[in-house]
Amino acid sequence: MTGEELLDLTTVMTGPRTEPGPLIADLRERDPVCWIPGLDAWVVTRHEDVRLLCNDPRLTADASAHDGYIAPATTDPRAARLLAALPFRATPADPESLGRRMVHRTLSPRAIQRTRQQIQEAVEEFAAPLRRREDVVDLVGEFTKPISTTVIGRLLGIPDDGEIADRFRNLPRAARNVRPFLSAVKREKAERSGIAVFEFVLDLVEARREALRDGIITDLLAAGEGNERTTNEDIVSVVAALVATGTNTPGNGASRCLLALLKNPDQLDLLRRDRSLLPNAIEELLRYDSGLVAMARYVLEDFELRDRTLKKGQLVILSLTGANRDPRVFPDPERIDILRDTRASIAFGHGPHFCVGVHIARSELQLMVDAALDFLPLDARFLEDQIQWGSKGLMSQLKRLPVDFGG
Ligand code: HEM
Repeated sequence: MTGEELLDLTTVMTGPRTEPGPLIADLRERDPVCWIPGLDAWVVTRHEDVRLLCNDPRLTADASAHDGYIAPATTDPRAARLLAALPFRATPADPESLGRRMVHRTLSPRAIQRTRQQIQEAVEEFAAPLRRREDVVDLVGEFTKPISTTVIGRLLGIPDDGEIADRFRNLPRAARNVRPFLSAVKREKAERSGIAVFEFVLDLVEARREALRDGIITDLLAAGEGNERTTNEDIVSVVAALVATGTNTPGNGASRCLLALLKNPDQLDLLRRDRSLLPNAIEELLRYDSGLVAMARYVLEDFELRDRTLKKGQLVILSLTGANRDPRVFPDPERIDILRDTRASIAFGHGPHFCVGVHIARSELQLMVDAALDFLPLDARFLEDQIQWGSKGLMSQLKRLPVDFGG
């Protein structure tokens, strides 16, 4: 298998094209800790193993521990730090890391409750025109994607219009973490893309007083003031990490939730009849397919797992699809059941790297799907042959979801 095929593999892992990810199901039973030579990586597919490894100090999320690590070409050490996806990926994994402490206040459940109104407004803006439509609507391009970008922009305090807004909207969309499993071409693209985000955020932080409305950046700067340990550079790296991880994930997740519901009309009906099921429905839909295929880790010291020896410097791919569809934990896992007990799902990760944006992601997804239930005609039909898929790092992307509102 070649490096390029690996990227195909990451897409296959989520099973959008070849449901239900038969390759992963097969690996999970036959070879749950599997060395894939072309990938140059271990792929771990059982729920029990993935959960344990998320908490295992012999693994790190810091890509520079990989024995094939190629440092970013940039000579700017601040950009290099960002490209390695720090400050959240430090070794040892630290739940009290600077990044986590900094976002704790601004992305806590209570803070997000306050910004839920802001998210609701963004959803409403894009939902309103869709209520009158009777033609084909691309739910990604006209709904989930612009909402996701608008929400993160407003949370950061970026104005909706003007030069800054344009620059924000036009930031490159390639993967932004330079990881060893990317092909050389994709790594270069990721580096360029990461640097563009870094420079954008640097300018924002430096120009904050004039350029920004209230938002996370002003909160972080206020929190950092008087604390000589928090520099502007720290804030830039935290904000850039949030932009890199939080801009597309909710939109991509929401469009996949909508596609899964359209494919499962019984579940869609159930939800239409009882909206109180929405929070658990979102967890179930993300368990089934959030768009994030896997989590990457690197071995810090040799150790054994299921009679395999994982060696220092190797890459370990923890398959989210494998874990979240493991029949040992989720009976009949390929079936979407919005009433299912979803507590064991690790769609938002597990352990010290658990998603810091989880509360905002849940709010966004719930509000987007709720609004879609209102504007989607009862006989809406998705156009299977016009759906477009892509992939970016460890994320499978739904790029176009055309739905015929005319029935
Ligand atoms: C549906 C939406 C989302 C999903 C499914 C998701 C999923 C995940 C997962 C699985 C991880 C763990 C990665 C690992 O252990 O390697 C993670 C980490 C992270 N997420 Fe999310 N996420 C979502 C939305 C967001 C949003 C909206 C933000 C920011 C506003 C965000 C920020 C982050 C950050 C910064 C990390 C790294 C934490 C660390 O390494 O310690 N995510 N996310």
